[in-house]
Amino acid sequence: MSLPKINPTTTKAWQDLLEHFSRIQNVKMTDLFAKDANRANMFLIEWEDFYIDFSKNRITEETLALLLKLAEQVNLKEAIASQFSGNIINETENRAVLHAALRAPETETILVNGENIIPEIAQVKRNIKTFTNQVLTGKLMGFTGKAFTDVVNIGIGGSDLGPNMVVESLKYYKNHINTHFVSNVDGDHIHEVIKKINPETTLFIIVSKTFTTQETLSNAYTIKKWFLSHASEEAVSKHFVAVSAHGKIAEKFGILPDRVFPMWDWVGGRFSLWSAVGLSISLSIGYDNFEKLLKGAHKMDIHFKTADFDKNIPVILALISVWYNNFFEAESEAVIPYTQYFDRFTTYLQQAVMESNGKSTDRNGEPVNYQTGSIIWGRPGTNAQHAFFQLLHQGTKLIPADFIGFGESLHGNQDHQDNLISNFIAQTEALLNGKSKKEVIEELKLKGKTVEEIKTVLPFKVFEGNKPTNTIFIKKLTPESLGKLIALYEHKIFIQGVIWNIFSYDQFGVELGKELSQNILQDIKNNTFSNYDPSTANILKFYLKK
Ligand code: F6P
Repeated sequence: MSLPKINPTTTKAWQDLLEHFSRIQNVKMTDLFAKDANRANMFLIEWEDFYIDFSKNRITEETLALLLKLAEQVNLKEAIASQFSGNIINETENRAVLHAALRAPETETILVNGENIIPEIAQVKRNIKTFTNQVLTGKLMGFTGKAFTDVVNIGIGGSDLGPNMVVESLKYYKNHINTHFVSNVDGDHIHEVIKKINPETTLFIIVSKTFTTQETLSNAYTIKKWFLSHASEEAVSKHFVAVSAHGKIAEKFGILPDRVFPMWDWVGGRFSLWSAVGLSISLSIGYDNFEKLLKGAHKMDIHFKTADFDKNIPVILALISVWYNNFFEAESEAVIPYTQYFDRFTTYLQQAVMESNGKSTDRNGEPVNYQTGSIIWGRPGTNAQHAFFQLLHQGTKLIPADFIGFGESLHGNQDHQDNLISNFIAQTEALLNGKSKKEVIEELKLKGKTVEEIKTVLPFKVFEGNKPTNTIFIKKLTPESLGKLIALYEHKIFIQGVIWNIFSYDQFGVELGKELSQNILQDIKNNTFSNYDPSTANILKFYLKK
């Protein structure tokens, strides 16, 4: 069973939502709170260690009911079942989409082309575990007999962003291994990493599903050349491992067959951190913690598959986001984590969301006549407050935001934690309530300002408020809670793709630039000129003149 191919705008729910929107688009959330004493409890989901408050949104019970109808009318339930059971829902690449199978228990059966994939996944996990333990205990050593101290992950896109984000997010749980990531084809990236490592004690993981990606191969060969300037050819097999769906190509690079960790075509790159792509995670935090990450994600999978839609976290967050994207025509969504450990979280989400849902052709091959994927951006609070929050509070754009916070400080500094969380809570409060003229006048009067002084600054000190936010409050940042959170966003992406009637799991949009860069590269190397538009030709001339 493939995914349904329903233009969402043709559903009754969509038309009802349009009509409903025309009535409530200017509603003040503060009025909604004033009218309904139970609103904060009604628009709240408490699940395991997650507290999801979505009451600070421009929604009413009727909005939610209509959005839930939309989910029903685009056959979301069937789509979920289709994804989890291994159907070919990535039709444009003729593949199943089974990243959730990577975190399923060994007792499950999931068939791809009639074959149960779970035993093979379990075997790869055992290999990851054995390899991790051997590296961490020093059983596996470098070419001079020293234990490994550093790991370099060489990959890009999904083969970099997921593991990179998790390693950074779970730095608190890290062991003695120092992990580095090289992704950019910019040679300065790799040379900065080389400065920090010792060839005798560094393990290199080349991660590439296809093993054809220009950036990754170019970095892998540069690293190998550098390595060979310190070691012999035989040493390569001790220091290089690969993760790929094309193991044979990896072997040609000099990697031993049993050091090639497989992945499969039913795992999309940006959803692959749960596979052997997460080897650097396992090496950084230990296999047990890696498994806890997977366990958390699996718990979210079960919640997503089984909870009623009105209490289903990914469903609710996806629907609210559709509400802003398609009815309010909000262009972007901010994600603001209140933990410095999440410095890379939004960067990771940008690929997951925008490579998946940045599409303008629907599942019938027709151009869409509505908005699809939102622009995702953000950085950790409180730094973000001193960077771009001005625009959130007083700018002209409507930017719905997810605020993600953790109740416990990992290092236990309660003063800092109280400061952090008071900011986390205050910001959503401020975005909701704003500050009225009356409040500004009273405040300035108390400060002893004259009537004239008040009149001059008054318009600039008013905050309109009514800015929507979701609060995702989690007890503690652990491998398990991070697994749940990532899986939550993965499912949100899927739901939105289903609603927008697009294929979320291909990424043809990244191909054109790659192809053209090959022509340009040829011209640069040969000092020749193909037929370019005048602007491109001039830029190339400027480069070649140097
Ligand atoms: O950016 C395009 C893309 O194909 C991503 O989807 C993928 O994660 C990345 O390139 C890397 O691909 P590979 O793992 O095959 O090197």
